[in-house]
Amino acid sequence: MRALVTGATGFIGSHIADTLYRRGFDVRCTYRSSSNLRWLKDKPYELIETTLFDFESLSEAVKNVDYIFHSGGQIAARNYDEYLKANRDGSLNLFKAAIANAPALKRFVYISSQTVAGPSQSLSQPYKESDLCHPITVYAKSKREAEIELLKLQKELPLTIIRPSAVIGPRDTAILPLFNLGSKGILVLIGMGKKFLNLIHVKDLAESTVDAALSSNTTGNIYFIASEQPYSWNEIMDCIKKISKRKFSLKVKLPHFFVLSAAGAFQLYCKIINKVHPFNLDKGRDFIQKYWTCSVVQAKKDFGFCQKMSLEESLADTVNWYKENKWI
Ligand SMILES: NC(=O)c1ccc[n+]([C@@H]2O[C@H](COP(=O)([O-])OP(=O)(O)OC[C@H]3O[C@@H](n4cnc5c(N)ncnc54)[C@H](OP(=O)(O)O)[C@@H]3O)[C@@H](O)[C@H]2O)c1
Repeated sequence: MRALVTGATGFIGSHIADTLYRRGFDVRCTYRSSSNLRWLKDKPYELIETTLFDFESLSEAVKNVDYIFHSGGQIAARNYDEYLKANRDGSLNLFKAAIANAPALKRFVYISSQTVAGPSQSLSQPYKESDLCHPITVYAKSKREAEIELLKLQKELPLTIIRPSAVIGPRDTAILPLFNLGSKGILVLIGMGKKFLNLIHVKDLAESTVDAALSSNTTGNIYFIASEQPYSWNEIMDCIKKISKRKFSLKVKLPHFFVLSAAGAFQLYCKIINKVHPFNLDKGRDFIQKYWTCSVVQAKKDFGFCQKMSLEESLADTVNWYKENKWI
């Protein structure tokens, strides 16, 4: 069996590639001329240089593959058009290249995001896949647009959509700043009230994404992949405190207006220096929501999803990897 992974130069895609290889697949990965190949070098993977807009090289990349795992996606952009171009139009190009050149494809797996659903209303109402989506950021809206466009074409090729919750684990740079502060004894809480979210370790996500692709029950469906229960930020920070084994630590509660002002100011600064960064006003809006919770009941029912790593194991594995690699 041969699988193509896009976004394999990034956090989640690199773990999907490694999982596929461990499970006996021949692995082919796409990369861009600007990509850092640090997670792929010295691995027995076939590498193909392409962008999501070069139909000719995309066509070559999808030839003779049985599965496609599309994890390549823009998580930081200047505006909605840039997000749409990469996340919706790029995904559509890859899907169309597969329709034309890989007609016997067993599954196209699109890595979407829990954020397409939007925050939930209460702790007792975690988002289900059948609920209407209310994305609150331009990033999430572009990921939802990609889902809608791919679902329109699903008669042409078998499609499965995975919506991961927040993901942690080795190689992640997005949540690194929080761990960095945590390792120094500064535990950040946002707002004055409690906040809850689902988290998943990247290895659990990669394994279950491959399980979903291999299951005959999952064609045409969308699945949240997340921890089986939500965690409070307090619980997460207490766990980081325990793992970092520091005698003294300080919990810092950042008021919402501070988070939004800092995010807005940082966005303006990035605009002035012409840089894109995932921490912006939209990310600030994400941070201040009370409930980022979703249900994994459907994934359990259809392909036996099971969270293997507890919160403490997930955080400890992440912290240990950061320490071993001198990232914190
Ligand atoms: N991390 C999370 O917590 C999380 C949660 C839910 C969903 N997701 C989704 O999971 C996917 C992977 O995220 P990640 O956390 O692994 O991010 P990441 O580490 O930033 O990796 C993103 C990957 O996508 C590629 N990419 C970015 N922009 C692209 C573009 N315009 N055209 C083609 N490839 C592009 C990157 O290639 P280069 O190396 O060349 O930049 C990289 O390989 C994304 O689609 C994201 O929406 C992530």
